[in-house]
Amino acid sequence: MKKVLVSVFLWIVLFFNILDANELKLKQVLIFSRHNVRYPVADNLERYTQKPWPTLSGPKGALTPKGVRLEGYMGEYFAEWFNDNEFLNAGCPDDDEVYVYTNTASRTKATARAFLDSAFKDCSVPVHHKDIDGPDPLFAPVIRNTTQAYKDMVMAEIKRKVSNNQKLKEVYLELNDILNVQESDVCKEDDICDLTEPKNSIFYEVGKEVWVHGPLMIANSVMDFFVMTYYDGLPIKDIAWGNIRSKEKWRVMTELARQDHDIRYRTVAEDIGALLMNYLRETFHNYDNKPKLILLVGHDYNLNSITTNMGFQPIDLPKQFEKFPIGGKLVFQRWTDDENDFLKVEYVYPSWSQLRCGKKYSRADPPQKVVMKLNWCSDKTGRGFCPWTEFTSKV
Ligand SMILES: *[C@@H]1O[C@H](CO)[C@@H](O)[C@H](O)[C@H]1NC(C)=O
Repeated sequence: MKKVLVSVFLWIVLFFNILDANELKLKQVLIFSRHNVRYPVADNLERYTQKPWPTLSGPKGALTPKGVRLEGYMGEYFAEWFNDNEFLNAGCPDDDEVYVYTNTASRTKATARAFLDSAFKDCSVPVHHKDIDGPDPLFAPVIRNTTQAYKDMVMAEIKRKVSNNQKLKEVYLELNDILNVQESDVCKEDDICDLTEPKNSIFYEVGKEVWVHGPLMIANSVMDFFVMTYYDGLPIKDIAWGNIRSKEKWRVMTELARQDHDIRYRTVAEDIGALLMNYLRETFHNYDNKPKLILLVGHDYNLNSITTNMGFQPIDLPKQFEKFPIGGKLVFQRWTDDENDFLKVEYVYPSWSQLRCGKKYSRADPPQKVVMKLNWCSDKTGRGFCPWTEFTSKV
């Protein structure tokens, strides 16, 4: 037994040394990014309260000027990281070195543009996207399974997750007060006067996104408004009419979006994320023929699908309340020691307060970075490097 242990130990030491001795070089990078700060998207907000909502200075759902600026800082940060790792040649990248593809939404296109304009100044790296009205199917979180069995399973699972959900209840209680729901139109017209009452109804249709109408949708719309305007810099006294002033309260209330993600997207992650997973699989299987840098820009639900379907170990991202933070990026890195290649995945994202403050990143104040671990891929280094061949044979 002792002998075995010693040899295992030596083997580990040796392996560490091999990885350290031949310094790993960054060979290829695929970034899946969520868009940066946008204007709130919800309709019907005026139905949920009689209090006046702050007016927005841009169209619903569009990237805000601050979002553009913050994404530029991300671009600069990544350019520096590429540079540190001698990843791309100095100056503009060659046409076949960088490929960028985004959803059709203006905020995803604008996010990619802002990133590229800072990462590769004056290079005019193109942003590719479909020229269609409506979302690109690759990114759309819509139900594809046409069977009744699947629908029954999903409906039951969603009902289970929604009912008696203490975390939702805590938010609902806060929102009852903040919105004064009793005085709202949604109370007078739809008889939803207390968000904790079980008045949710599930909307499920093949080809569409799953919605849970009622308190969950109301709370979701309202919280989206609060969070986005917080990031964008609205004075605290104007956010939720001055009713959210502590980090602790934000922590409690942002749980809403985390629950919503679990309920409406995680339940159906495999089904709604199938096209995207095929795209990524195809990309990684033929990675030798792909550009050095691929940047994809989509949405939080896409990141939910990817992390759920790929089987990353669940993790609470430090210094963030959002599960899939705005402007956050899942960064797939292929490293090589010239003999073997390794995959490392990191989540790179702005912290809650970095988004609010909106300062440039620096070496002293970089974006947050967390190693994402795949349960099914061996990591003999303990530092998140999984053998590339193992990754591509199992993904
Ligand atoms: C649809 O869902 C059913 C029930 O869960 C499952 O057996 C079937 O494999 C699914 N079909 C597809 C194409 O994913």
